[in-house]
Amino acid sequence: MNSLLFIFAFVFLKSSIVVASFNPGDRCFHETVHIGDKLFFLGGYNDNHLSDFFYLDLSISFHKDIPPWYNLDFRRIPSGVSKAASSFGGSDNATIFLIGGGRSYSRSDYIYSFNTKSFIWRSHSLNISTFEWLWTFEWLWDMKGVTDDKGRIYFYGGWSSNSRASSNKLQILEFNILEPSKITWFESSSRYGESSSRYGHTVTLLSNGIIVIIGGYVNDKSGIDKILLYNTNKSNWTSMITQGISLSERVRHTAALTNDGRIIVYGGIKKDSLDPNLVVLDTNFQPFKWLTPEANHPPLYGLSGLYGHSANIVGDYMILAFGKFKIFEEEIYNRHTFLIDVRNYTWASCFHPKRNVDTTTQVITTQVETIAQVVTTTQVVTTTQVITKQDPVCTIHQLIEDIFGFFSNGCILIGLLTFFFLVGGCCNNIRNGT
Ligand SMILES: *[C@@H]1O[C@H](CO)[C@@H](O)[C@H](O)[C@H]1NC(C)=O
Ligand SMILES: *[C@@H]1O[C@H](CO)[C@@H](O)[C@H](O)[C@H]1NC(C)=O
Ligand SMILES: *[C@@H]1O[C@H](CO)[C@@H](O)[C@H](O)[C@H]1NC(C)=O
Ligand SMILES: *[C@@H]1O[C@H](CO)[C@@H](O)[C@H](O)[C@H]1NC(C)=O
Ligand SMILES: *[C@@H]1O[C@H](CO)[C@@H](O)[C@H](O)[C@H]1NC(C)=O
Repeated sequence: MNSLLFIFAFVFLKSSIVVASFNPGDRCFHETVHIGDKLFFLGGYNDNHLSDFFYLDLSISFHKDIPPWYNLDFRRIPSGVSKAASSFGGSDNATIFLIGGGRSYSRSDYIYSFNTKSFIWRSHSLNISTFEWLWTFEWLWDMKGVTDDKGRIYFYGGWSSNSRASSNKLQILEFNILEPSKITWFESSSRYGESSSRYGHTVTLLSNGIIVIIGGYVNDKSGIDKILLYNTNKSNWTSMITQGISLSERVRHTAALTNDGRIIVYGGIKKDSLDPNLVVLDTNFQPFKWLTPEANHPPLYGLSGLYGHSANIVGDYMILAFGKFKIFEEEIYNRHTFLIDVRNYTWASCFHPKRNVDTTTQVITTQVETIAQVVTTTQVVTTTQVITKQDPVCTIHQLIEDIFGFFSNGCILIGLLTFFFLVGGCCNNIRNGT
């Protein structure tokens, strides 16, 4: 009888967790910025530009169906915003910059910043007299930005609301650490050809300072086998024809970098519906090589996959959130959060943070030297094994999933009895999807 009470307590606990947590509404074309153990979500679009601001707590384990959202309702973005560009910067990398995009408040400033320490939003108006090029200033939507190790943020491409054309501009934002109120915003003199003007693309910075630009609405109609590279050391551009399988055009996808140099490209609107939703650009090859790993579960939404979503790699997981998918030309908002284990591209149920273990427990560091097949350079891979802890919420949720699994199979009695005996053993299995 005690065990029965136990189950009811779990069921009650599950529903109370669901009720207690903040549930952000559906959206697409939002921005995300990862700072420390928080993944900030900014704005997005759903009938209107949204000023929502909330974060996902990455310091604890969680189940993908009950992500620990925290609403920053008391610090909403000064204007609704979607299809903007964002990245982190500032001293301690603790400031979020949000630039351009569609706004609900027409008189809003081009650049907003949010300091994650002081919790204050600022508007930055552009000082036209300082920068000559600003005479030809264009308000851009759909740029994409990355931050380098010197705190410079590079923004590329976009769609101009003035000239109604896509852009091939590289614009750079510098934060003055000594004078935090001063930011410098300038356009790089270096550009690639007009044919590379694009929006709906992705921008990824590799650890060697090369920026990789993939896909988007491009004037040049080649597929994503042709990528654009910007060398931040030399301030110049090249394009590269990748090796591996040939992939068609792709827009509004995401690209996230693993710490061993793989760019995981997910979803997007594809020219060829046979192209897999999940493809990987391995930058350890020269030229870079497209791989199409088998994901253990079929793509979530049949042939379409998500677009206008967000993807961030944190530790071993890629976190996919929001966006839309298509079923028979019908556009539907995705209200789920998904996790992919980036070690083997399996869909995972639970996120576990990588913890920096205190010195009393051992951290095993192994150095493996491998010669890459094509390139002649030596690659040093450092793997640090860190101990992760199962979080009770995640475990309880898995347990309940297991219980309901028994019920739905119609084996209520057998299931209950079996459960009572096996309750200790089954909770450690991480179940892949449902
Ligand atoms: C704009 O820049 C000029 C030159 O640096 C400076 O004198 C002026 O005060 C600035 N204006 C504003 C509004 O910041
Ligand atoms: C800021 O982030 C960059 C890129 O991730 C990193 O290289 C740099 O060391 C960070 N700076 C500080 C002060 O944390
Ligand atoms: C850029 O410079 C950094 C540091 O000076 C170096 O580690 C990196 O390999 C360089 N990148 C390229 C592509 O040359
Ligand atoms: C990039 O700039 C460097 C140094 O200015 C130069 O040596 C190199 O040839 C340039 N590369 C391209 C592709 O223009
Ligand atoms: C993927 O890797 C994780 C961690 O190494 C492991 O727990 C999981 O079982 C693997 N999944 C598959 C299908 O191999």
